[in-house]
Amino acid sequence: MSKHSTLLTSAALAVFALASCGGDPDSPGIEYFPDMYRSPAVEAYVDYGQDPYVAEMPDGTYDSDYADSLVLKQRMTQQARKPVQGTIAFSSDASKAAFNFPYTYANTPEDYERAGLEVKCPLPMSQENVDKGKVIYDKMCKHCHGEKGAGDGTVVNVAGYPQPGAYNGPLKTLPEGKIFHSLTYGKNIGMGSHASQLNKEERWLVTRYVQYLQNDGKLSASAPVAVADTTATPVN
Ligand code: HEC
Repeated sequence: MSKHSTLLTSAALAVFALASCGGDPDSPGIEYFPDMYRSPAVEAYVDYGQDPYVAEMPDGTYDSDYADSLVLKQRMTQQARKPVQGTIAFSSDASKAAFNFPYTYANTPEDYERAGLEVKCPLPMSQENVDKGKVIYDKMCKHCHGEKGAGDGTVVNVAGYPQPGAYNGPLKTLPEGKIFHSLTYGKNIGMGSHASQLNKEERWLVTRYVQYLQNDGKLSASAPVAVADTTATPVN
């Protein structure tokens, strides 16, 4: 190495060393990619995609303070909110619309009886719906209620869980409204509510499968085959 370049290197090192020691002791020094150290604080539920980064004053001129004030306002405004009470979701698919209505029956013995009389399944009793219901039943009910709904699932047989009545025995005449009601709220201490695991459509599908088991594994001729009344039935 020449004398010249040794001198230059030492000078550069000296400058570097001095630069890293002096100055503000609180300064973190040179940072690569400062975004990585200080990530921007992001509020949940605020729509950053809508930031008015370029904001014109009402008279058409641009003012950065005005733009900042808009950004600040935007960032303090929560965008994602719960729907207003009483709002009913819209489904463009009319066959799904019936499931958007709230279930208006309360978890009381009186409403259980009423549900048995008034609440009707919006899905037809068809092989297709029974098959879909079976998929749910096999995953979520069979271990207690048993393969054919005799109340002899493994949880009952092996673990000694309270035995539910057989669907084609004591529960044979249980109407669909009560099946749905019990699926929604649960029944006594043995049967838990399934409202958080199964949406209304799924609860009705599995209700159809329970009816199929009530009928000894045959499609019931007497079961209603009506197509959903999608507008006037605020019960499911
Ligand atoms: C942890 C065990 C268990 C699971 C899981 C379970 N059940 Fe039950 N179920 C019971 C018991 C126990 C009863 C009896 C409750 C009573 O009447 O005291 C019962 C009762 C019922 C009844 C009769 C309700 C009434 O109004 O008399 C229906 C219908 C029913 N279950 C359907 C289902 C369906 C459908 C599923 C799956 C989505 C399911 N159950 C999952 C244990 C269970």
